[in-house]
Amino acid sequence: MSRIKIFDTTLRDGEQSPGVNLNQQEKLEIAKQLERLGVDRIEAGFPASSKGDFQAVKAIADTIKSTSVIALARTVKSDIDTAWEALKGAAKPAIHIFLATSPIHMEYKLRKTPEEVIATSVEMVRYAKERFDEVQWSAEDASRSDLNFLAEIIEKVIDAGATVINLPDTVGYSTPAEYGNMFKFMKENVPNIDQVTLSCHCHDDLGMAVANSIAAVENGATQVEGAINGIGERAGNASLEEIAVALKIRSDFYPYQTNLVLNEIKRTSDLVSKLTGMHVQANKAIVGRNAFSHESGIHQDGVLKHVETYEIITPEMVGVQEANTLFLGKHSGRHAFKEKVQEIGIELTEIELQDAFTKFKALTDHNKEVTDDDIYTIIMEIKTDS
Ligand code: KIV
Ligand code: ZN
Repeated sequence: MSRIKIFDTTLRDGEQSPGVNLNQQEKLEIAKQLERLGVDRIEAGFPASSKGDFQAVKAIADTIKSTSVIALARTVKSDIDTAWEALKGAAKPAIHIFLATSPIHMEYKLRKTPEEVIATSVEMVRYAKERFDEVQWSAEDASRSDLNFLAEIIEKVIDAGATVINLPDTVGYSTPAEYGNMFKFMKENVPNIDQVTLSCHCHDDLGMAVANSIAAVENGATQVEGAINGIGERAGNASLEEIAVALKIRSDFYPYQTNLVLNEIKRTSDLVSKLTGMHVQANKAIVGRNAFSHESGIHQDGVLKHVETYEIITPEMVGVQEANTLFLGKHSGRHAFKEKVQEIGIELTEIELQDAFTKFKALTDHNKEVTDDDIYTIIMEIKTDS
């Protein structure tokens, strides 16, 4: 099994979700939970972007001791200096500098030639290296860049001292085969690539961020970047909990493991949701309210006979305490209903049970969900009538 590092960017790219604004206390609380979750690196923020973010990154750097803390900087000296001021108290400080490499970004956004992009990147990696042992360089919009140009610039920034090379799918445009191929190409065409950690960073604009990240890992990436609950710019970042659990559940197929403490996932997800105000959709994989709920009679019957008929992950594995595994709605069957009555702890004869089931079915015509209280009321009515 090879070890995949988890780089969490909930507090940087995740905080770039429209409408999200975390204060220092909130960022610190999330950082402490990320440390308990066992991520390898916490991207705490972008210190040059605001005074508040500088203070928050500094507070995290001064507090978190067992996880590396990293901060974002543009390829300008003042950003790198500001990041160092914020991070110098960290146990394992690291810097993340980025510059775009795609034709569209270089021409219209940066107004730089490819040669200038190489020169600036090399100069700023060298500058960052004067203070930081760990320097991550990202080729923004890597997935829309020319592969040969990318190989050339990567080789040069590694020679300049970069220790991590990150190849983001910045606009979530890539597909798994294409994104995986970019990593394979770099492994085969950059002579010094094995000196560094190769990282992937995917956005979810086409809903492929998790699949793209796994494709990168299959093709040589040893670090995965993402955010809890998949939050981030536009459609968000790759969801870290989905990647970690997929690698674990399919360890028969994927020879990779992360250091994440999986049963801390739900707690982390709840905290991020509460503090960012971004609700998790009910059907979201791993952490959604319905991720472990079965509604149809056929599925409920199967789960009651053998849980693995319809459940590939146990709620306990990811720290879900009270999973509503048998959701009682209009598709539910007698077997699940009987189970619920037994759970409530009231004995019914076969005739009473049939009567109660009929009343329950009638109720589902009006109610989307039938609660334990509703069932208790039905039972009590039957007991009083008999
Ligand atoms: O998506 C992206 O390209 C980024 C960079 C800053 C790494 O977030
Ligand atoms: Zn990003």
